Amino acid sequence: MMTDLNRSAVTTTQIDTAVTCSFKTLDPLRLTAVRERERARYTVNRPQSKALAERAAVNLMFGVPLHWMSDWSTPFPLHVDKASGAQLRDVDGHVYIDFCLGDTGAMFGHSPAPVARALAAQAERGITTMLPGEDAVWVAEELARRFGLPKWQFALSASDANRFAIRWARALTGRNQVLIFNGCYHGTVDDVFVDIVNGQPRTRDSLLGQVVDITRTTRSVEFNDLAALEAVLADGQVACLLAEPAMTNIGMVLPDPGFWEAAQTLCKRYGTLLLIDETHTISSGLGGYTRAHGLRPDLLVLGKPVGGGVPCAAYGFSAEAAARAEAAKRQAPAGHSGIGTTLTANLLTMAAMRANLAEVMTESAYAHMFGLAERLAAGLRGIISRHHLAWCVTQIGARTEFQFSLEPPRNGSEAAGILDPALEHDIHLYLLNRGLIITPFHNMMLVCPETSAADVDRLVAAIDEFVAETVAG
Ligand SMILES: Cc1ncc(COP(=O)(O)O)c(C=O)c1O
Repeated sequence: MMTDLNRSAVTTTQIDTAVTCSFKTLDPLRLTAVRERERARYTVNRPQSKALAERAAVNLMFGVPLHWMSDWSTPFPLHVDKASGAQLRDVDGHVYIDFCLGDTGAMFGHSPAPVARALAAQAERGITTMLPGEDAVWVAEELARRFGLPKWQFALSASDANRFAIRWARALTGRNQVLIFNGCYHGTVDDVFVDIVNGQPRTRDSLLGQVVDITRTTRSVEFNDLAALEAVLADGQVACLLAEPAMTNIGMVLPDPGFWEAAQTLCKRYGTLLLIDETHTISSGLGGYTRAHGLRPDLLVLGKPVGGGVPCAAYGFSAEAAARAEAAKRQAPAGHSGIGTTLTANLLTMAAMRANLAEVMTESAYAHMFGLAERLAAGLRGIISRHHLAWCVTQIGARTEFQFSLEPPRNGSEAAGILDPALEHDIHLYLLNRGLIITPFHNMMLVCPETSAADVDRLVAAIDEFVAETVAG
């Protein structure tokens, strides 16, 4: 049973830097040799994945069902046969310890047994009806208990939940501007693809088919910059600040001590709603980073792992925000709100969410995950110090990352500046060839309730081996 919501992760957010005087770098020639060897090794050992990739090239655009799936470090996509607990098996029969866990979608393990059982049972009793059942009521009660927000709505993805929450924020404040932190990611929400380039806001140029000038209604400031935050809030035009409480998508960036206390005060002062996106930072504990660190958001988004990997998301409202949102809907002309999709909160996803919250996302699961994340972080720090690397380790509860800088980045620009996609790919492929998978973007690693200490030690040993093979000198 879940007893103490606040205890979970208060002590698990840490930054550590290597304490050494002269640092070593990785040798480009050694890296090239390792890369070529590992690509050949991947190819030769995966004839079934290769054959499927060739078949897929005919009828799947980019050879994959979602074009991102070709962004991994592998010469051709790894095709999955089965995923269970902390493990994944490919179609060639190789078994991997999975520290990517579907980039958080499977943060509580692949196919958790209670969720699989609930899905099978519910599939016999109706999948979607556009009407609620008892599970929806139970889930909202449980989310209110965990997050301290009394009112909830649902969506099918965190992207949708963010999109809808922004819409509610604009509707209930009557303001049109949204504020984000530079370098953030909140899903495919057009409103947030604004970067600061040479000090100026600019719509991200990689967006496809976007014809609106997003900078007209989205403002962006650097994380941890309270003066800039106040400057953009001061005209009273910003409906909401949409933020991860700690950035996780450009490499991890933690808030400075006192940052959120001051940022929340500023939001209140200028009438801007705080919309906290806990999709990734739910790694902090049962009530997310919000509960672990005493944040007081007006709106809060949950996604990815909340249904054990089944597509669903939820967003919560404070009592005041909910009352204003309900009033806005009542006062609006009859017709479509622009919020919601037909299959939202269907019976199947609500059954999955209930089983997951009740039996999988438990306090004891988090305790296990925190212990392993600490072990992983300690192992990584050992590698950094043994090899004299100017790298650092950042942690948000069960989420751990090593970054290519001595000091952890303080904002999105700094974090972007230390990304090294080529080196990241080299590391990822090296690990994959040794039966270990980490997130394909930067160096983020998750542990789940089924991950073991031996799994973590294997990962640390393989990263150590990579560094030993490629370090200069
Ligand atoms: C913080 C955050 N919010 C929202 C999303 C969007 O999630 P989805 O792709 O499931 O819609 C992501 C995805 O990575 C995320 O990291």
